[in-house]
Amino acid sequence: MIKKLALSAMTVLALGSTPVLAAESGHVHDFAFSFEGPFGSYDRAQLQRGLQVYTEVCAACHGLDLVTFRSLSDETGLGLEDDVMRAYAATMEVPDGDGGYRAASGPDHFPGSSMENAPDLSMMAKARAGFHGPYGLGINQLLHGIGGPEYIASFLTGFTGEETEQGGAIFYENTAFGGNVAMPPQLEDGLLEYADGTEATEEQMAQDVAAFLMWAAEPKLVERKMWGFIGVIFLALLASLLYLTNKRLWAPVKDAAKNS
Ligand code: HEC
Repeated sequence: MIKKLALSAMTVLALGSTPVLAAESGHVHDFAFSFEGPFGSYDRAQLQRGLQVYTEVCAACHGLDLVTFRSLSDETGLGLEDDVMRAYAATMEVPDGDGGYRAASGPDHFPGSSMENAPDLSMMAKARAGFHGPYGLGINQLLHGIGGPEYIASFLTGFTGEETEQGGAIFYENTAFGGNVAMPPQLEDGLLEYADGTEATEEQMAQDVAAFLMWAAEPKLVERKMWGFIGVIFLALLASLLYLTNKRLWAPVKDAAKNS
């Protein structure tokens, strides 16, 4: 019985370790992100670089209206100092409720998309989750993460350079999207200068902003994993205590049976 169980568990794990993508038509590359796996956590420097890419490039069209500025100070996320976070917020404008605009502060949310057909990016890393594993068991999600940031990074680096015009609008061929998309290619080597000195290659920027968007969609990922781990330890302890209690409770009965 135990042998059988162990065997099927091993099969599931073996199946799970080959990245299987959902029935997405496009090509998604399996980038190795620091926050994957049961003990993965965010790389603070990478998230900060991702915020820089978002601010300097994506924010021209895309919003992040579910994310608050003060969450940029979260310890398990970007960990910005309070005054740095507030200075950053003050560079953004939000509606003041009177039809005008004012500088944003900590509790405010990022502005929404300024371009009508550019989707808000707050939950994009989850909306495009690509890794589910065989039969949607989610085993790949445990081992490789959900695949959303992989999709975003593949999307940003997946432009082929082909353009087509349709009804007066230009569309760009993209291998991750699996067809033509209305968003023009955004990243190219050396597009910006990273504050931390990292070389801003196309792939580096794509991964950094994808990691940042994963954080935006799931800011409590690290805490969630920690509590999951504590839960497993607790259950293991509880199981062994119950086993010992069970043995002890039945010991007199067993002794009696042996002696009779
Ligand atoms: C010039 C405006 C513009 C900029 C700048 C821009 N985007 Fe887009 N983006 C769009 C538009 C428009 C769409 C919708 C495309 C469509 O559905 O055909 C889009 C779609 C997307 C999608 C969704 C693709 C899908 O699967 O539906 C993602 C992800 C995305 N953008 C990420 C980014 C990131 C990250 C950046 C910054 C590096 C960025 N975009 C910069 C205009 C822009």
